[in-house]
Amino acid sequence: MLFKQQVLLRQKLLVLGSLAIGSLLYLVARVGSLDRLQPLCPIDGRFGPHGQEEIPLRALQFKRGLLHEFRKGNATKEQIRLHNLVPQLPKAILIGVRKGGTRALLEMLNLHPAVVKASQEIHFFDNDENYAKGIEWYRKKMPFSYPHQITIEKSPAYFITEEVPERIYKMNSSIKLLIIVREPTTRAISDYTQVLEGKERKNKTYYKFEKLAIDPNTCEVNTKYKAVRTSIYTKHLERWLKYFPIEQFHIVDGDRLITEPLPELQLVEKFLNLPPRISQYNLYFNATRGFYCLRFNIVFNKCLAGSKGRIHPEVDTSVITKLRKFFHPFNQKFYQITGRTFNWP
Ligand code: A3P
Repeated sequence: MLFKQQVLLRQKLLVLGSLAIGSLLYLVARVGSLDRLQPLCPIDGRFGPHGQEEIPLRALQFKRGLLHEFRKGNATKEQIRLHNLVPQLPKAILIGVRKGGTRALLEMLNLHPAVVKASQEIHFFDNDENYAKGIEWYRKKMPFSYPHQITIEKSPAYFITEEVPERIYKMNSSIKLLIIVREPTTRAISDYTQVLEGKERKNKTYYKFEKLAIDPNTCEVNTKYKAVRTSIYTKHLERWLKYFPIEQFHIVDGDRLITEPLPELQLVEKFLNLPPRISQYNLYFNATRGFYCLRFNIVFNKCLAGSKGRIHPEVDTSVITKLRKFFHPFNQKFYQITGRTFNWP
């Protein structure tokens, strides 16, 4: 009899223990353990000098749980009202450069509890049809966020599209602008690789990179080729500088983001006046992918899609040399304007 009671008691304890562990795991996953495991630091004046601009503790803790569900459309109107959630216009925009590592940067910044990313590229400012729909259309495309969080959007086409600086200026002349760059020749090859993949998928023929990047008549670099033009960073930046002072831009080193992401992210946190909350814990190197991946908490981690980090085709070394020589003076100008020097050849 006593033995039977002991067995029953042990079974009950086992069930209770499993329930407790299960609930704990659920909480960690749902509410975002990252914010709970790491002490929340005081965050006075993060977006300006005023103390009232603090992010409520609740906002940080709920970001990974509730917002995720709201984005999926599971929230009732009452929940949204209760939590003061609104789609907000971006306070910072990642304007490019295409193939610079824009997706990786956005996803990594989104690790920060005060940052909310617009998952899709909205293409509001570079697409006339979208732009004609008006700013309210744009705002409604943004994810729900707490009033003191900052929304970040990325559409890399903004950087190279003529009309965009003026249009963004009209929306918010003091907006913060992020640009991620990579060594220009590598970026151009990456750009080519992406287009090539699309053509191959559609069974279309396509020229070799060498043929597109070098004008066969002059044997000079073909500046009409879009992948080359996009890599002349200074030309595009100069257009932006007609509207925004250089202080409103932050340049991210896309090559360093691949090999050593944390210091680059810390510089962005500083630029956005955010407290440093992204840590080495949030980033781990995945040898299979050959890239850093993201760790939100002990349960959730993710790597970028396979379309990020493609294998580039081999390119004739003489073409690479020619391109590097071509980009060199533009790069020098870019360093001079931005005050950030890169070890590009
Ligand atoms: P490649 O595919 O040429 O390697 P974008 O998001 O602007 O299209 O940039 C894509 C590039 O992001 C990739 O170019 C890749 O090198 C780079 N990248 C940087 N960090 C990455 C990461 N953690 N995972 C995957 N790709 C990353």
